[in-house]
Amino acid sequence: MTEAARPRILIDCDPGHDDAIMLVCAAAYADVVGVVTVGGNVALEHTTRNALAIATLLDWDVPVHAGADRPLLAEQVTAPEVHGESGMGGTTLPEPDREVAGYDGIGFLIESAHAEEGLWLVPTGPLTNVALAMRCDRSFSSRLAGICLMGGGAEGGNITSAAEFNVFADPEAAAIVFGADCPVRMCGLDLTHQVTGDAAYAARLRGIGGPAATLVAEVVEDELANFGRYATNTESPPLHDPVALLAVTHPHLFAGTVTPIEVETGGHLSRGATVVDRRLVTAQGTAPGATLAEVRTEWVHTVDGPAALDLIADACARWA
Ligand code: RIB
Ligand code: CA
Repeated sequence: MTEAARPRILIDCDPGHDDAIMLVCAAAYADVVGVVTVGGNVALEHTTRNALAIATLLDWDVPVHAGADRPLLAEQVTAPEVHGESGMGGTTLPEPDREVAGYDGIGFLIESAHAEEGLWLVPTGPLTNVALAMRCDRSFSSRLAGICLMGGGAEGGNITSAAEFNVFADPEAAAIVFGADCPVRMCGLDLTHQVTGDAAYAARLRGIGGPAATLVAEVVEDELANFGRYATNTESPPLHDPVALLAVTHPHLFAGTVTPIEVETGGHLSRGATVVDRRLVTAQGTAPGATLAEVRTEWVHTVDGPAALDLIADACARWA
């Protein structure tokens, strides 16, 4: 990828094992204006420290701003069973060599969107910060090129049978974000389950060597060791978050369909589900004659999984 093709992006994340892989790919393939952290997999203090430690490991000059510690209304849920108490279980990270750039992550998102129109926003955690930015500034989302998020899914959930973690953690925030005034690309579980890391992939990363490959190998190895302690219908751990980032940096590897997507915020069994309206979707894409003029949501449903795994490995090799 030429330097000129590096998209300018904002990141909102909750590192988090797979967020760490996403950050390696972002450092390799994008121009990142800044990273904002949110409480999600683990508490904000941990996600923020992890983001600072990962940037230190990569010797990456990127500002990290802390955002919301908890959801808008929902009772907070975390995922230490997957990511460990620190959020980066099983990995060896350096002490951060830098301080957090600020504690107003929402303000940073808004300021960045006003400083530069046409940024892509890549959220890979609960959508609390993005929703608050939209509520604080009516023009925020319209200034973005789009939002390409890891979350939701068209075929059920992981933290419940109906809901994916990022959306379930803050369904009200997700409902706001899916109504943004810009394209919203949903990279949900049905997509991210096409990109999984097994023992052979961890060994491949070990063979590359260097801090980035070692970190990603440790993540895959830890998730393999804990695999089966959480529900997923894949043969090996899915690498969720880098998929959303690669959908922005390498869109040719993906296919999707513009169609209405809504978030269930009520429901006893279905709260946090993302409801993809497929009544207008055919095998070839949107049904002929479907009037989707006002629809901005896209169900990203297909990725070249092996090519995505190669890109993650190639990103790591930049620090070998
Ligand atoms: O459901 C997977 C998502 O939830 C990923 O973003 C993971 O990091 C957790 O935040
Ligand atoms: Ca995440």
